[in-house]
Formats: sequence, structure tokens, C-alpha cells
Amino acid sequence: MITCTVEAVLGDITKLSVDAIVNAANSSLLGGGGVDGAIHRAAGPELLAECRRIAEARRDVEGGPCPAGEAVITGAYKLPCRKIIHTVGPVWYGGSRGEPALLASCYRNSIILARDSACHSIAFPNISTGVYGYPKELAVAVAIDAVMETLPKTPSITKLVFVCFDRVNLDLYNEKLGIRN
Ligand code: APR
Repeated sequence: MITCTVEAVLGDITKLSVDAIVNAANSSLLGGGGVDGAIHRAAGPELLAECRRIAEARRDVEGGPCPAGEAVITGAYKLPCRKIIHTVGPVWYGGSRGEPALLASCYRNSIILARDSACHSIAFPNISTGVYGYPKELAVAVAIDAVMETLPKTPSITKLVFVCFDRVNLDLYNEKLGIRN
């Protein structure tokens, strides 16, 4: 039984005042381009300082500081949300290197981390579908299936938003969520 509203919107994730937004980070946790760059620019330098501290504490993690599929949480600083969950999506190599399972782990681990941090609303970007090259039409199925499988175990999460940055992704999400415009 899912008691969470799930929707897809077109917009800039840095503007959302949900409890937690999810960042499509890289394993260094030290920022980058895409949504990672947008979040760091909007949050300000204190975010990078906290990410550096976390990266230093996790410097011995194999494939780390944050391996693909895992997630860490920080403050949100100048952003309107309360927390930022940094998760690292898989780079797309054609689908035979465990990419679907790693991408599903990003959504599952981020929701669990949000629950454990008393966040009741969470917003995701379209993880791995930019620089990391994951085909959008494949990623949407993995993302929604992982979310629908996890939400029944995290009833404290009452709002989940897929924030699309392009119309193609929005239409794919709405189609998969069964919403006809
Ligand atoms: N709000 C919402 N979505 C955004 C925003 C934004 N402000 N900016 C970009 N996006 C979208 C992209 O259009 C894409 O659909 O986020 C999705 C994820 O794309 P990327 O940000 O490129 O992330 P990803 O494909 O997971 O690659 C991660 O890119 O930026 C680097 O440091 C990051 O190395 C990591 C890699």
C-alpha cells in the first residue's frame, strides 16, 4: 500500500522546497556539471565544504568516497529544501555491467536515507541520463519500479517528485506513471 503522492514535473530541482532533493553526484562528492553543478552553485560554498569533510571521512571506501548506487546526505545551505541527498548513478556502458541494479539502488538508498533523516518529501532528478549516458526510456522504468517497490517500506515518505529538466523525460515519466496530459 503506497500512501505517498508520486508525480513528475518540469523544472529546476534547486528551486523546490521539499524536505530533501537528490543530487546526481559523482563518486568524489566534490561537484561537477549538470544538476550537480546547479545544486552546488545554488547552495553555496558551505555545501562543498561539507562534501569535502564527508569525502575525507570516506576516503578509504572502495570505489568511493561514494560508490555508484550509494548515497550520502548533507545540509542544504542556501537552497529552499532542508537536506541534499547525494547519490551516484552508474555510467551507461550498454547495460551489461549491472547498470540497472545500480540505478535502482540510487533511488532505493536515497528514499531510505530520506526516511532515516525525518524527511517526508523528496525530489529526484533523472539520475544518470545526462553526462552518464543512461538511455532515458530505460532509466524511467528502473526509476519508477525502484520507487514503487521501496515506498511501501517507507510510509513516512508522503510526497515524491520526479523533476524533469526536459520535455522528453517528463513525457516518459507521465506515460509510465499512467498520467495522460
Ligand atoms: N534541475 C533538475 N534536473 C537537472 C538540472 C536542474 N537544475 N540540471 C540538469 N538536470 C538534469 C539533466 O538534464 C539530466 O536529465 O539532470 C539529469 C541528470 O544529468 P546529469 O546532471 O548530467 O547527471 P548524470 O547523468 O547522473 O551524470 C553525473 O555529471 O555533473 C556531473 O558531477 C556529476 O560526474 C557526475 C555526472
